[in-house]
Amino acid sequence: MFTDTHCHLYEEYYENIAEIINNARKKQINRFINNGCDNKSNLEVLKLSQEYKNMYAALGIHPESVETYEEKDLLFIENNLTNKKVIALGEIGLDYHYTKENKDKQLELFEKELNMAAKFNLPIIVHSRDATLDTINTLKKYDLKGVIHSFSGSYETAQIYIKMGYLLGINGVITFKNSYLKEVIKDIDLSHIVLETDSPYLTPTPNRGTKNEPARIIDIAKFICELKQISLEELARITNENIKRTFDI
Ligand code: NI
Repeated sequence: MFTDTHCHLYEEYYENIAEIINNARKKQINRFINNGCDNKSNLEVLKLSQEYKNMYAALGIHPESVETYEEKDLLFIENNLTNKKVIALGEIGLDYHYTKENKDKQLELFEKELNMAAKFNLPIIVHSRDATLDTINTLKKYDLKGVIHSFSGSYETAQIYIKMGYLLGINGVITFKNSYLKEVIKDIDLSHIVLETDSPYLTPTPNRGTKNEPARIIDIAKFICELKQISLEELARITNENIKRTFDI
């Protein structure tokens, strides 16, 4: 049994979410952490977590929403953090890929969310793109647990996050032909990784280019099993133990 620790199951991407969940169950992917990005998706993620038994919610404002979010959106998150199905703050973080100009605003938003995680004693799911140094320096100010989502950095960066107690979220990127990530993960103990799809994005080989869904965790899992020479059962056991150490599920 596998867990997709990072997906975006929203109505805007999927006509029939029940079917998507069913597809996943057929492949032994039985638990889902659905991540919000803005107020609209946070509402939806919360609603779905109440409808489906093994669907959990992470609420957050994504750095790409830094220019459009309102204070009341943060209040909505805070007001729902005691809900039993809300298990993390996410997807939160820093993204300097398109622009660095709003860096201060991004850092301010990120810290507001980190403060909430600290206050409610919840783990975080972190998005960091082209912002490794600021992410590390910001996280160092806090004593939190969580996942560095879509990790694709160097071995040295991986070690820094691991020493800080974070798990590395590994997705379809590891299966991409031109990705160096497999070389990094080869040398990293499996006790530090969790699997994720980032659906609807980052579809693993051999379906790259199509819309992703949690069922494709199996393609990522098979790839890692081949890389590490272990069985699917062993990988499921280890990654679920890692999840248990970090999340209350
Ligand atoms: Ni995401």
